[in-house]
Amino acid sequence: MNDEQLINAAIKVREKAYAPYSKFKTGAVLLGAYGEIYAGANVENSSYSLTVCAERVAVFNAISAGCKSFVKLVLVSGSSPPAIPCGACLQVLFEFAPDLVIVCANDENEVNTFSLSQLLPQGFRLKEKF
Ligand code: THU
Repeated sequence: MNDEQLINAAIKVREKAYAPYSKFKTGAVLLGAYGEIYAGANVENSSYSLTVCAERVAVFNAISAGCKSFVKLVLVSGSSPPAIPCGACLQVLFEFAPDLVIVCANDENEVNTFSLSQLLPQGFRLKEKF
């Protein structure tokens, strides 16, 4: 799938977002190493801190389907410039794909592309001292 197709898939899943509190709908699509895609939309809660971002929903979908190898994430939002994944989502993505390409887009054809290492240069890894 090319970026345009991935962005269109993210626009489609964004329609499913549950964001009655912020009204800020997001849609994310993860491209797996074999060309398969996993989608997610943000899911808010009246207990606000329980909200889950679209990117993490997409990651959890991929993991639940048995995929742990991703090459690209596309995030579509309604903001200009397009929203960049939050720090928590970057860390979750780093766990599985430190070399991930991240494409941020909106529904006005603005597209910005980054590497995960640009956005999160020093991700956390759990390591023993010795
Ligand atoms: N949100 C995402 O889905 N991804 C991000 O990286 C940042 C924020 C969602 C969470 C919440 O539902 C809404 O956007 C406003 O913060």
